[in-house]
Amino acid sequence: MQSSRQLLSRRVFIVGGSITKFVGKGSPDFIDKKHPDFGKKQNTTIEEYITLATNEALKNTNVDPDLVDRIAIGNFAGELFTNQGHMGAAVIGANKKLLNKPSMRVEGACASGALAVQVAYDAIRSGADVALAVGAEVQTTVSPRIGGDYLARASHYARQRSIDDFTFPCLFAKRMKGILEREHFTMEDTARVAVKAYANGNLNPLAHMHNARVSLDHASTVSDKNPNFLNNEIYKPFLRITDCSQVTDGGAAMILVSEDGLKKINASKDSIVEIKGLSCATGNLYEDAEDPTQMTTSRVAAVRAQEAAGIKASEFQVAEVHDCFTIAELLMYEALGIAPYGGAKDLIRAGATNLDGKIPVNTGGGLISFGHPVGATGIKQFLEVYRQMKGQCGGYQLKNIPTFGATLNMGGDDKTAVSAVLQNL
Ligand code: CAA
Repeated sequence: MQSSRQLLSRRVFIVGGSITKFVGKGSPDFIDKKHPDFGKKQNTTIEEYITLATNEALKNTNVDPDLVDRIAIGNFAGELFTNQGHMGAAVIGANKKLLNKPSMRVEGACASGALAVQVAYDAIRSGADVALAVGAEVQTTVSPRIGGDYLARASHYARQRSIDDFTFPCLFAKRMKGILEREHFTMEDTARVAVKAYANGNLNPLAHMHNARVSLDHASTVSDKNPNFLNNEIYKPFLRITDCSQVTDGGAAMILVSEDGLKKINASKDSIVEIKGLSCATGNLYEDAEDPTQMTTSRVAAVRAQEAAGIKASEFQVAEVHDCFTIAELLMYEALGIAPYGGAKDLIRAGATNLDGKIPVNTGGGLISFGHPVGATGIKQFLEVYRQMKGQCGGYQLKNIPTFGATLNMGGDDKTAVSAVLQNL
């Protein structure tokens, strides 16, 4: 029998998983009025995404579902977008062999996916050998404007909802106004983030915006095709369509195991990545950021994860950060520590976070181009770092296989943050 101290120091490994295609307006797989299959076929449902991601993850890792000790699923707003809650039981419905396993849903807005990983990680640390983390969201059932209202539930709705119909885009436009006033970075810098995201997504066949091309001129110029679309006259000038993540449907699932679990599932040596540090930090829903240039909750999560891992941000060779808006990506560079405070602009201007840069970020296109099916996003981030470490990224595979990498997933406006440090073994 292991002591509780030994259990808490148990090592946790990722052995693989699956990411479905991310789909929404602008992707050829999305069935809308203009699609030749309109009226004949329907878009993939939340139930189908959960089933697909779960079974593909089990298949890709060769894990017998009988061996799964614990399941967690991240989903933010299933009841609103799809009339479906109770997602823990939906994962059980994905595979008969999962019947009666402990399966639960976790919610932390856009960090719901990484919270599911946190639950799976905690389960392994406290004695489980095999855990399954799933994430899924379907958001295209309503217009982006109605979706904006649903997503506003991740803010303090009673106080912040009225800032704009598109509450979250406007909260980040508000940050951008403060960022410009403090000369922290510029609108040209945020346009550079969009250009990088779309260029990476062009190389990623799973990406929602795989076919969309965005030049620096397009991203930095306000036009009919790239409008300041907010209604709030004060904040409208600080956000263009190209600064925004997508309204996306999709799913992802990942298998975590202990050292004993590696033996139980007979894991191949080549399939293993270790989670060296994982930390969740939560801010106060009722308070706004004092300083718009800082993501203080995300910073706490990132620093704690790095301390737990004993690995510094300067050692990362790849990172996935929460780019719900271009503005957020730059703030995340500083929260994660890959840039010093005030240094994000230098990183993006130098191309250091491009695929051929010294610290590539969001290599598959991030939330802006790969897409943002909210509950799936955090798990996708882990799997993107994993896939880069295992040489599975096809057209956007990094030339130098990374040894150390990081994730930073965020819910709300820097309210729930989950950061991890991963090591390729
Ligand atoms: N000129 C003027 N206005 C225009 C326009 C143009 N050429 N094109 C579009 N617009 C405006 C219109 O007002 C339009 O509204 P109506 O449809 O009601 O007229 C609105 O923009 C949306 O237009 P579309 O439906 O054509 O836009 P789209 O489908 O291309 O969506 C988007 C663009 C609104 C930016 C949408 O992608 C979006 O909402 N993205 C953000 C999603 C989001 O907020 N996700 C959550 C991120 S926050 C996070 O991650 C943390 C958390 O916990 C929530």
